[in-house]
Amino acid sequence: ELQERDSLIITNDFARSYFEDQLYNTEEGKSIGLSYFKQRGFLKETMETFGLGYAPVSRDGLLKAATAAGHREEQLEKLGLIRNRRDFFYDRVMFTIHNLAGKPIAFAGRVLKKDVKAPKYVNSPETEIYHKSDVLYGMFQARQAVRKLDNVYMVEGYTDVISLHQNGVRNVVATSGTSLTSGQASLVKRFTENVTLLYDGDKAGIKAALRGVDVLLTADLNVRVVVLPEGQDPDSYMQQVGSTAFEQYLEEQRKDFLFFKADLLLEEAGDDVASRTTAIRDIGSTLALVEDPLKRAAYLQQFSGRLGIEEKLLINLVNKAIADRR
Ligand code: CTP
Ligand code: MN
Ligand code: MN
Ligand code: MN
Ligand code: MN
Repeated sequence: ELQERDSLIITNDFARSYFEDQLYNTEEGKSIGLSYFKQRGFLKETMETFGLGYAPVSRDGLLKAATAAGHREEQLEKLGLIRNRRDFFYDRVMFTIHNLAGKPIAFAGRVLKKDVKAPKYVNSPETEIYHKSDVLYGMFQARQAVRKLDNVYMVEGYTDVISLHQNGVRNVVATSGTSLTSGQASLVKRFTENVTLLYDGDKAGIKAALRGVDVLLTADLNVRVVVLPEGQDPDSYMQQVGSTAFEQYLEEQRKDFLFFKADLLLEEAGDDVASRTTAIRDIGSTLALVEDPLKRAAYLQQFSGRLGIEEKLLINLVNKAIADRR
C-alpha cells in the first residue's frame, strides 16, 4: 500500500520532470531559462545534478499536465504547486530541493525580472514531506564529500551551493537564507562534527554567522568561519577568482568561531572599559556553551591571553555563566 508521503513525492517528482522538460525542450524555456543558467556559468551536468528547471509564464501548464497524468488537484494544492486552481510557480527558473534519498520534497523559484517589489525567491510551503527547518539544501549532493573530508561548508544561497559544487567544492550545503536551527545542526552531525560558515561578505552575513553559534555549539559541533570580501557571496567570489584562489582563500581565512566572535566584539568595543567588559561577558557566556571540558579548558587558556585578563578570572566568569543557566 502506498503511503501518503510516497504519493506526495511521486507528484513532486512529476513536477520536477515537468520543470526540467520545460527548461530543455521548449522554445520559451530554452530562450529564457536555459540561457539564464548558461549566463550564470552553469553546465548541463550541474543543472541535471541539482534538478534545475523552468516554470513558464502561463499559469496552468503544470495543472493541466499533472491532472492529465492522473495526479489529483487536491494533492497538487497540498504540495503548494497549485493555488486557486493556478500554477503557483510561473515565470521563474526552478530549483529542486531534495531529501537525503535524492527525492524532490520542495521547490524554489527565482524571478528573472529585476522587479524590486517582488521577492527574489518563492519557496514551497511546509508540508508533510517538507519541514524547512530540518533541511539543508544540497545535503544529498554533498553527503559523500562531507563524510570523506569530515567538514561541511555552510552557505546562504542555492546558487552558492551549485556554483561551488561545479567548481570542485562539493562539501557544501545552504541554510537557504534562514538562521540555523537545531534540526539542521543534528542533520549535519550525522555526517561530520566540523562546520565552516561561509556567509555573504556583508553585515547581514556576519550577523547570521553570529546568530548560528549558540545552536551549533549546543550541538557540540566545531565551528569555523570564513568571511568573504565585502559585497561578495560564495558564488560571485568563485566566479571572479576561480577555484584555486577560492580554496586558498578558504584555507587562509578560516577562523575558529570563538576567535571570530571575540575579535569582532573586541574591535567594536575599542578601548572603552564599559563596552570591553560587556564584550568579555558576552564571550564568557558563549564559552559556557562549550560542553566538552577539555575543549573549554583549551579555549580558556587561549582566550585569557587574547583578552588580556587572568585565566582564573575568566574561568570564574564562565563557571558563573554555566551555573546561571542551570
Ligand atoms: N532567499 C529566499 N527568499 C528570498 C530571498 C532569499 O528564500 N526572497 C534565500 C534563498 O535560499 C537564497 C538565499 O536566501 O538563495 C540567499 O539570498 P541572496 O543572497 O539574496 O540570493 P542568492 O542565493 O545570492 O541568489 P542570486 O545569486 O541568484 O541572486
Ligand atoms: Mn546577502
Ligand atoms: Mn554534547
Ligand atoms: Mn548570489
Ligand atoms: Mn547571495
